[in-house]
Amino acid sequence: MKILVTGGAGFIGSNFVFHMLDKHPDHDIICVDALTYAGNLSTLDSVMNDPRFKFFKADIADREAIYKIFEDEKPDIVVNFAAESHVDRSIEDPEIFLRTNILGTAVLMDACRKYGITRYHQVSTDEVYGDLPLDRPDLFFTEETPIHTSSPYSSSKASADLLVLAYHRTYGLPVTISRCSNNYGPYHFPEKPIPLMIANALNDKPLPVYGEGLNVRDWLYVEDHCRAIDLIIHKGKVGEVYNVGGHNEMRNIDIVKLICKELGKPESLITFVTDRKGHDMRYAIDPEKIHRELGWLPETKFADGIKKTIKWYLDNRSWWEEIISGEYRNYYEKMYGNR
Ligand code: NAD
Ligand code: DAU
Repeated sequence: MKILVTGGAGFIGSNFVFHMLDKHPDHDIICVDALTYAGNLSTLDSVMNDPRFKFFKADIADREAIYKIFEDEKPDIVVNFAAESHVDRSIEDPEIFLRTNILGTAVLMDACRKYGITRYHQVSTDEVYGDLPLDRPDLFFTEETPIHTSSPYSSSKASADLLVLAYHRTYGLPVTISRCSNNYGPYHFPEKPIPLMIANALNDKPLPVYGEGLNVRDWLYVEDHCRAIDLIIHKGKVGEVYNVGGHNEMRNIDIVKLICKELGKPESLITFVTDRKGHDMRYAIDPEKIHRELGWLPETKFADGIKKTIKWYLDNRSWWEEIISGEYRNYYEKMYGNR
């Protein structure tokens, strides 16, 4: 079985590559990644010499390059993680989100149609459902919740989801989609809040909390997400959408305070900054379908996962220090300089 994983040099994609090589000795993994600012080849160092792993640097929206890889490698299953993933960047400049997240998805699925696969899996997000109000804790996103997006990022992901379902209905492409809540864990790029707050706290720098920090996210340890996708591609029903989340809702401010506490840093580092435009208030997934149909349940509790994650950032300082010392500095100044 050959699995083509796109975006495997990014956060969740790399964790998925490690998970699959570890759990499935009979699977080969082909990783395709354009190595954008968010892709880091050094993340894959430990598997580069594994005979069951191959890496290709390519843009998923580059039809010629993608067709060539499919022709040469003939994958059985495609799992598409590759995306522009940062909401704030999409607000600054939406265009690349449309190219990669929508056009890239279409090119991959065209390649699947042309060369034949047994499954195309789209890694989507709970953000396609929009947000929920803070005063209705009884409401959750189910697979039937209407698509109702807020940012250019979530709109591009929703567009891709609609295309995936259209390719299933129109061409009979055997697709599945997973819509997961916020992930955290090793190799999370330090523009995202958990690694950003850890890195800033360790450097005694301000911890920039948007608005009043009351927005709620439903955090899931990345390995639990990888296990869910593994189950869906092997046992999930073609044409179906599966929500993935762990009923772990937390306010941003509480997470930042917890990080301060774990690192022994003062809460006075917390700085409230201008809110994100169109900021979604609350995400909360109902994972009943994937539990009922595939037996999936999250295994890592947040209290343990956040400790493991902080330890990982302490033990792997060179990984993130290299990132925040490069081009990232200009990004940080641009995004936070006048906030
Ligand atoms: P990430 O930004 O860390 O990684 C994205 C990867 O995709 C990088 O390695 C990058 O180089 C690669 N990439 C970007 N554009 C590409 C292109 N045109 N061609 C080939 N490769 C390209 O993202 P992530 O947080 O790991 O997210 C992975 C996927 O999971 C995304 O599709 C995202 O929408 C989805 N998702 C993320 C979360 C989360 O909390 N991070 C939650 C739910 C769903
Ligand atoms: O829900 C899944 C989505 O989760 C994924 O699809 C996205 O790729 C991923 O980035 C994430 O999106 P969010 O909308 O939750 O944004 P983000 O991860 O950037 O931030 C999480 C929360 O933290 C959000 O409410 C904004 C806040 N935040 C973020 C940053 C970067 C801050 O308060 N300060 C910050 O500096």
